[in-house]
Amino acid sequence: MREEDLRRLEEEIDKLRMKILDSDEFKVYSEILDRTTLMALYRLSKKGFIKALGGVISSGKEANVLHALKNGEEVAVKVYMTYTSDFRNMYEYIQGDPRFLKVKKDRRSVVMAWARKEFRNLKIAEESGVRAPEALAVDSNVLVMEFIGENENPAPRLKDVEDELEKEEMEEICSTVLEYIRRLYRNGELVHGDVSEYNILVHGDEIVLIDFGQAVLNRHPRALEFLKRDIENVSRYFRKFGIEVDAESIFREVVS
Ligand SMILES: Nc1ncnc2c1ncn2[C@@H]1O[C@H](COP(=O)(O)OP(=O)(O)O)[C@@H](O)[C@H]1O
Ligand SMILES: [Mg+2]
Repeated sequence: MREEDLRRLEEEIDKLRMKILDSDEFKVYSEILDRTTLMALYRLSKKGFIKALGGVISSGKEANVLHALKNGEEVAVKVYMTYTSDFRNMYEYIQGDPRFLKVKKDRRSVVMAWARKEFRNLKIAEESGVRAPEALAVDSNVLVMEFIGENENPAPRLKDVEDELEKEEMEEICSTVLEYIRRLYRNGELVHGDVSEYNILVHGDEIVLIDFGQAVLNRHPRALEFLKRDIENVSRYFRKFGIEVDAESIFREVVS
C-alpha cells in the first residue's frame, strides 16, 4: 500500500474513533493500530460491523478488547496482537485441529488463524447451548462479538464479584459452568481449555463463558488432557468457597 493510501486509511480510522479517554488508552490504541489491524477495522466498518470505536476494556499480551458501536448496538472488538503473541504456543493448539490443516507456520498466519478459530468456536458454543458472546464477524486479526454488559460497562468477571456472592449463588454458578463444559464437549465436540474465574462473566442472572481462542475440537491429541485440566481448575476454585466438586467423577461422566 502506498504511503498516501495509508494516510487516508488512518484518517478514516480516526473518524471511527469515538474518543480516546486517557493517555493509557491512547497508548493501547497506538500499539494495536498497525497496518494489518487498520485495514481489518476499515473493512469491518465498511461492512457495517463497526460504526465507532470506544474505550479499552482489556489489554493483554495476546489481545486487546475494545468497546465499539455497531448501529446503536454495543459490540466488543477483540484485536489479536501479531507481534507480542506467543505464536509458537498458539501453533500447538492449531496444529492438531483438522479445521486449520493448511495454516502456515509464520507469526501472522498463526495469529489470524487464531482469530478465526475463536470466531468458529464461539459459533459452536452457541449451537451447543452454552451462553457465550455471539460471534458477529472476523477479519484478519480482529474479531467482532456481542458486548456483554451495558452502557460501556462490561459485565464483571467472576473473580471481580466472588466476595459479594452468597454460597448458594456460587453453587449455582459452579453447576452452570460444569454444565457448559459438558455441553461443549458432548454437543459441540469442543474443549474450552482455559476455563477460569477470569473467563466467566457474571451478567445479571446470566453466566457467560468467554475467551474461546484456545478451545480445541475433541479430536485434538491433547483434548482430554485440557478437559481434565478445566474440570480440575473449576473444582479447585470452587473448593475455596466450600463447594466440593469431584473432578474425577465429573470428567468420567462427561466423556462417557
Ligand atoms: N464480549 C465481551 N463483552 C464484554 N467484555 C468482554 C468481552 N470479551 C472480553 N471481555 C473482557 O475483556 C477481557 C479479556 O478478554 P478475553 O477474551 O478473556 O481475552 P484474553 O485472551 O486477553 O484473556 C475479559 O476478561 C473481559 O473482561
Ligand atoms: Mg481471558
